[in-house]
Amino acid sequence: MKILGLSCGTKNGNNDTMCRVALEAARDAGAEIEFIHVFDWDIKFCSGCVACSRGLVMGKGMICTQKDDYAALYQKMVDADGVLIVDPIYESGGSGLFHVLCDRMGPGHDTGMLMMLDGKLKEQGKEGLNPRIFMQKAISFVGIGGSDWACRVETDHAMLAMSPGWKVVDNDFFSWSKDVIMQEDKVARMQEIGRNLVEAAQYIIDNHVMIPGSENLDLWKGKKGGCPHCHSNNFYIFPGTNHAVCELCGLEGHLEIGEEGVTLVNDPSLGENGTIEHCHDLLSGKAAHGKDIFENEGRLMNLFKDPEFKARKQHYTDVVAPTPAPSKQ
Ligand SMILES: Cc1cc2nc3c(=O)[nH]c(=O)nc-3n(C[C@H](O)[C@H](O)[C@H](O)COP(=O)(O)O)c2cc1C
Repeated sequence: MKILGLSCGTKNGNNDTMCRVALEAARDAGAEIEFIHVFDWDIKFCSGCVACSRGLVMGKGMICTQKDDYAALYQKMVDADGVLIVDPIYESGGSGLFHVLCDRMGPGHDTGMLMMLDGKLKEQGKEGLNPRIFMQKAISFVGIGGSDWACRVETDHAMLAMSPGWKVVDNDFFSWSKDVIMQEDKVARMQEIGRNLVEAAQYIIDNHVMIPGSENLDLWKGKKGGCPHCHSNNFYIFPGTNHAVCELCGLEGHLEIGEEGVTLVNDPSLGENGTIEHCHDLLSGKAAHGKDIFENEGRLMNLFKDPEFKARKQHYTDVVAPTPAPSKQ
């Protein structure tokens, strides 16, 4: 079993160290370990070109126009049985580097889209994708903060697992942590997170859990959250109502106060988004979302030939040109 730890912090800073704390515990529990300091790798921004989703839908392959180390990093994650991401908390959420990882994981590595590509390749008589891509994976996240601004970080982090549909085991954050390796409770919790990841990864290996068919599997070891589906505690509340959407899995319903605090009670009368089947991490939810995107993309493709669309575009292009970047002049 292999556990891969990624740190998005500064070189040999707190995030690197805490990642290594968990990895040491994972190694002591019998896992082979690997550590990557993500800043050492060349990971470029997603350019927004959507070549990835077009390539998948049209059966052309896994395409990304950015030539860097992301494909190799993704392969490292695919090859691991469990992944731990330790990330500094910036502005109460995940770091910029972490958000770049999320964008790069995005549509191009969405399991639903990859299954579509796999089917299309096989229809063309070609070899399908590496079956390892469709193996389930245990993933945990830890945010490390220098203060107590942290209320969005768990949701930011778990978002990375939505596209591939990997199972989140622990999702935690440590505030006031500039001296974190001297704080015994946080070191002990990090060791526990390492051991939990090994246990969850072992379950996946022993039961040969593939992503299709494992939608209802819950490997969660964290605190009980307000969302009944994904354990998230962040909701968008429609102004003046208790009508809310889970910011992580997209489940829609009403917030209610009960003995266990505030929870979201999903409500199918609000439409498909009120059903568990529509949640972002499930293949059923991905299929519905994919269909909607496909229809929207098709409408846009047709508009490119439309004279009125072209005239409107030209009008606004002529309003003002972008200022060139000083560094590129
Ligand atoms: C741009 C920036 C924004 C930050 N915002 C927060 C924040 O909102 N909440 C918080 O607890 N710490 C915040 N911090 C502190 C970092 O989380 C802290 O410096 C980091 O965890 C140190 O990790 P490292 O030693 O691995 O680099 C911020 C730091 C930077 C550089």
